[in-house]
Amino acid sequence: MADRVHRLAVLPGDGVGPEVVAAALQVLDEVGARYGFSISRAEYPIGGAAIDAHGSALPAGVVEACREADAVLLGAVGGPKWDDPRAAVRPEQGLLGLRKGLGVYANLRPVRVIDALAQFSTLREEVIVGTDFVVVRELTGGIYFGQPQGRSGEPPQRSAVDTSTYSEAEVERVARLAFELARGRERRLCSVDKQNVLATSRLWREVVSEVAADFPEVRLTHLLVDSAAMELLRDPRQFDVILTENLFGDILSDEAAMIAGSMGMLPSASLGEPGDDPLRRPGLYEPVHGSAPDIAGTGVVNPIAAILSVALCLRISLGEPEAAAAIEAAVDQALELGARTRDLGADDDRALGTAAMTERLVELLPYPARVRA
Ligand SMILES: NC(=O)c1ccc[n+]([C@@H]2O[C@H](COP(=O)([O-])OP(=O)(O)OC[C@H]3O[C@@H](n4cnc5c(N)ncnc54)[C@H](O)[C@@H]3O)[C@@H](O)[C@H]2O)c1
Repeated sequence: MADRVHRLAVLPGDGVGPEVVAAALQVLDEVGARYGFSISRAEYPIGGAAIDAHGSALPAGVVEACREADAVLLGAVGGPKWDDPRAAVRPEQGLLGLRKGLGVYANLRPVRVIDALAQFSTLREEVIVGTDFVVVRELTGGIYFGQPQGRSGEPPQRSAVDTSTYSEAEVERVARLAFELARGRERRLCSVDKQNVLATSRLWREVVSEVAADFPEVRLTHLLVDSAAMELLRDPRQFDVILTENLFGDILSDEAAMIAGSMGMLPSASLGEPGDDPLRRPGLYEPVHGSAPDIAGTGVVNPIAAILSVALCLRISLGEPEAAAAIEAAVDQALELGARTRDLGADDDRALGTAAMTERLVELLPYPARVRA
């Protein structure tokens, strides 16, 4: 009988989403059995699958059910079946509505180059080996949501407007989260803005610098976003935590993702306000990749991004850091021992499918130290 029970809301979504979510849950159950907890889970529709079944990408009641859970695990949404740009309901509405409904304002994307995979990056191996940083992107403010937004006029006098706004409170809460994260890592925080041009960036830099006073042990630096884009490719090892606003974060986190090689390796967490227990912050966890319709249903999708998302969930939302570390260790070891899915460069005849890679990781999950002794 497990000591602890964690409640997980599971949203498999579309394409490879259900395949990687199933793999992640298998690993979660196994690690739970070894580390003394169990997962009680309930599944909910989202995205294209939800449109087909309920006529909405985020059916009524799903957000509330997710709020009740300790954490949310999502696969991916979207696919060619729902791609008609004229459609009134689109799968992405499910994801945006969920993020908004959960109030998650910080998106974390860890980028870690695993030695055994360094050769798959488009950057030279000696530049990236040892890279290990997290991008913290503000998720609910900035130019994506500011008003007015829209277009007017007819040719040849068409014009369009977007507005970027940030309040002090929005900057402060995400900065605090990033400093807390940096405090538990290498204690280096690089804040990225465009303060030489943008008023929102000047406020951003001011507020981040003020928050820094509460974290004297963390070394704060600032970079303009254009320099940051260059530095990420020149010397990615210099970074520990990168904090930036919504638009810059969107672009830089995809640039950063390519340093690690395959999309199939990258987890993410989206976090909101901490609850009463600082060790169990509610969050939404999902692989960075999309629904990969080109390989859906063929059993070859790499499940590691989803499995590492579950590790993040264990550490940040479920208060199970040892189990999180066990999953990460199993992933490292499997790759070091040569386990490869097709996206990691394995020939077709040597590549592990989704199920075989998941089994391999389960076999390699370390037991807790007290059991091993
Ligand atoms: N968060 C999300 O739900 C999310 C994110 C991005 C894209 N999408 C949606 O997904 C659909 C496909 O988008 P896309 O093709 O631009 O991006 P994608 O990430 O789904 O796929 C890009 C390429 O990478 C491959 N790939 C992705 N993940 C993989 C994995 N785990 N293992 C092996 N190969 C993997 C795919 O086969 C494809 O060739 C679209 O409908 C898009 O809107 C959803």
